[in-house]
Amino acid sequence: MTGLLEGILTSPVGRKVAAKAGLAEPPRLRRGRVLPAGPVALASLPGGGIAAEVLDAVGVSPVEPLLDLPGNRTDDEKGRPQPPRYETRPGALVIDATGVREIAQLELLRQVLRPVMKGLEKSGRVIILATEADAVDGLEAKAVAQGIDGIMRTVGKELRGGSTANLVLLAEGVQASDLVSTMSFLLEGRSAFVSGQVWRVAPAKTPVEGAASDKPFADRVVVVTGAARGIGAAIARTFHRDGAKLVVVDIPAAGESLAQVANELKGSALQLDITAPDAGARIADHVARVHGPEARIWAMVHNAGITRDKMLANLDEKVWASVLDVNLAAEMRINEVLLDHDRPGALAEDGRIVGIASTSGWAGNKGQTNYAASKAGVMGLVWAMRDELADSRVTTNGVAPGFIETEMTGKIPYVQREVFRRTNSLSQGGQPVDVAETIAYLCDPASSGVDGQVIRVCGQNLIGR
Ligand code: NAI
Repeated sequence: MTGLLEGILTSPVGRKVAAKAGLAEPPRLRRGRVLPAGPVALASLPGGGIAAEVLDAVGVSPVEPLLDLPGNRTDDEKGRPQPPRYETRPGALVIDATGVREIAQLELLRQVLRPVMKGLEKSGRVIILATEADAVDGLEAKAVAQGIDGIMRTVGKELRGGSTANLVLLAEGVQASDLVSTMSFLLEGRSAFVSGQVWRVAPAKTPVEGAASDKPFADRVVVVTGAARGIGAAIARTFHRDGAKLVVVDIPAAGESLAQVANELKGSALQLDITAPDAGARIADHVARVHGPEARIWAMVHNAGITRDKMLANLDEKVWASVLDVNLAAEMRINEVLLDHDRPGALAEDGRIVGIASTSGWAGNKGQTNYAASKAGVMGLVWAMRDELADSRVTTNGVAPGFIETEMTGKIPYVQREVFRRTNSLSQGGQPVDVAETIAYLCDPASSGVDGQVIRVCGQNLIGR
């Protein structure tokens, strides 16, 4: 039945019916380490200035933004005044609103945004930089900081053609060099499926040295669990592209496909059930054996996860426990062992830990109490570790994928799958590589000021915040 329905809806006639019902063909997204093709317009609002420095470091020469002011409008054929049009469609609009403190100044954002709302190239970008509410004084300034958040989220929902909107919030003391990895990521195709997100950037825990590199993990060991297939395999491939030495981990039953991934990436495979009590020790021992006793893990990516969906009315203690153990408790036990930096093969003192949450953890999902508990728990863990490791140079972050096209989501009935795909601002499911790119960005040595964040990779899913 699922196959029949899918066949009808993807046939030429079915496509026409779907388009009439408002289900337009989803736009093709720009992916990879690729900057926008069109110019990047920079609006430096009063009190701003840091964005110009950051764009310079990223290697982008910005153009002046157009302003939607009465004198700049032209009438269309029906005599309706239209905002000014760029000669060449811009690939991005960057708004430096770091000095905006007054309600009246929000009008300046409207002026620069209106000309790009229908004028950006496909897969374009709106990136707003602002100062976080904790770093500004006065009621109006704090309210305005949140007001900018509302503008960004709405712009993300109104943009077309696969364009995205994101807000970068600067903590006190942030320098341009702390923002380069975030700005490169957001401008490039690596952030294709990330929209409607707020990124908090603080001063780097480890000072950022040198220019941004496209091989940031050269000679660094990265461990990825659940890497035999799906998102885990994509994460491993992305780190390999960026120069890492991979250790891929999965259960013995997935040994054959795990070995294939390891061979393809010239990495090493570790067959291990991460719920084993000695899993952390076995990962460290493996790293020390393969890469030498002095080697340390640069990034530990806790990707392995399972679902065992049942309505709570039918959920027994075994099914409950299995999900919480794989998705949350195992990650905690492994971290505890690897944070002993003196242990051969443990985490580097300035290393990275990343957990995989889920939008089900933000919003809850029918039939997934156990899964939502575990994934919301991953977020709680990330936030708690930020405080716990505040004095360490280790960063801990999470990603919360929305609907991603994998074997796991391939089992969802077609109509439900199509609803999940369409209920985000980009009208499509994400690809495993979209999650992988976000994780690689978080683990970049230059992302040292990004700590304790959970970034949603969901195309601005309508569910949850
Ligand atoms: P998948 O089911 O395709 O792959 C998961 C991998 O983890 C498998 O290779 C499996 O063998 C491995 N694994 C499971 N239990 C393990 C254990 N005890 N020890 C070692 N390895 C184990 O799943 P997918 O879709 O690639 O998801 C990856 C992660 O992303 C999971 O944490 C999942 O919860 C999360 N996620 C996925 C979403 C999606 O739309 N696909 C949405 C939100 C989160």
